[in-house]
Amino acid sequence: MDSILIRGGKPLNGTITISGAKNAALPLMVATLLTDEPVILSNVPDLMDIATMTALLRGHGTVATHQADGTWHLHTPDITSTTAHYDIVRKMRASVLVLGPLLARERQATVSLPGGCAIGTRPVNIHIEGLAAMGAQIEIEGGYMKAVAPQGLKGAKINMSTVSVGATENLLTAAVLADGTTVLENAAREPEIADLIDLLVAMGAEIEGRGTDRLTVHGKDRLHGASHRVLPDRIETGTFAVAAAITGGDILLAGADPETVEAIMEPISRAGATIDNLPEGIRVRRNGAGILGVDVMTQPYPGFPTDMQAQIMALMSISHGAAMITETIFENRFMHVPELGRMGANINVHGGSALVRGVPKLKGAPVMATDLRASVSLVLAGLAAEGETRVNRVYHLDRGYERLEAKLVACGADVERVRE
Ligand code: UD1
Repeated sequence: MDSILIRGGKPLNGTITISGAKNAALPLMVATLLTDEPVILSNVPDLMDIATMTALLRGHGTVATHQADGTWHLHTPDITSTTAHYDIVRKMRASVLVLGPLLARERQATVSLPGGCAIGTRPVNIHIEGLAAMGAQIEIEGGYMKAVAPQGLKGAKINMSTVSVGATENLLTAAVLADGTTVLENAAREPEIADLIDLLVAMGAEIEGRGTDRLTVHGKDRLHGASHRVLPDRIETGTFAVAAAITGGDILLAGADPETVEAIMEPISRAGATIDNLPEGIRVRRNGAGILGVDVMTQPYPGFPTDMQAQIMALMSISHGAAMITETIFENRFMHVPELGRMGANINVHGGSALVRGVPKLKGAPVMATDLRASVSLVLAGLAAEGETRVNRVYHLDRGYERLEAKLVACGADVERVRE
């Protein structure tokens, strides 16, 4: 298995171009199932998760082609299968997003339950309850959700009990082809959902409330083709902002969208980095001054994202003072703690909170992690650490970071992939 070798201690200086957002591109690709006309998506990042999604869509009948610049042409003239198999869903949870569109277009769908994952149990009850409220009959059989809506889906008023990005996306993409009006209350407000709404509207959907927690969808008989550009990845932006701050460097995050990263930049700035929003992107630098301890709590958007929790913890591990980092979204998202500990970090977890007492220096070590963001937090720690860090199980990074080593090396990092 490949690993990444980092010789740390070098400040990163230069420009990093931010890629299209993985978590926007995945639901956008799924939404192309809603029409028999071609949809063109540009700025799609080149990632393992995108390859997995392509394989899934091809299984449903999508003809998918792409160019080197990340422009994808997705066309599903007919849905050739309404089953999403366990083999693919277990690899990538976002696969469950096909449930809503398949059910809306074909009145039936059989989608594997994703099961738990490294960061928690991650149920899909809100997806199921919402579709049931729209008239679907859903049974769980042999590990699969078997859903049928013989009369088609009907508009409904749905109040989601927990703020869920995936459930909001699944229900939105079902409601656009439902008969009548659907109101989604307590909807997630993540920018990736606004991006999905933009594509759906371009395809002919009628949706009110973009950016709010109450979405009203007036169903249509059919949607048509459209073109859409995927928004910049706010988690990648935040990750490289931490790379600048943790190494005491100066990086221009070209093409980043300041509006979507306010909650991410706020603690990085309070920790002592200087952040400037420029016409070409966001400049993050920390010259000389040390890192201050800052408390952070994860929240649904517009709060601080859980997908940045591990990275901010890496930064706090070399702060002056202490930081309390509280995770409120996933119950088991501290697997990076013992690994950061192997690098000399002083972190104690009590329930959903981690108390990080800053140490003057981290020291390189062999480490590994069991999910994407935990893995990248170890890369960040390695960039700041003295000596050599080897991050194993690199396939997690390949799921969600486009050309990670190349982007870091271009800013002066000593990073290489070791193929085994
Ligand atoms: C998405 C993101 C993921 C991010 C997460 C939270 C994608 C592809 N993935 O995941 O990177 O970490 O949002 O911002 O966009 N829940 C339920 N029942 C449900 C659904 C969710 O209880 O039916 C709970 C989850 O267990 C979790 C919380 O709701 O505690 C939020 O999860 P959710 O927003 O659904 O995450 P995902 O959409 O899976």
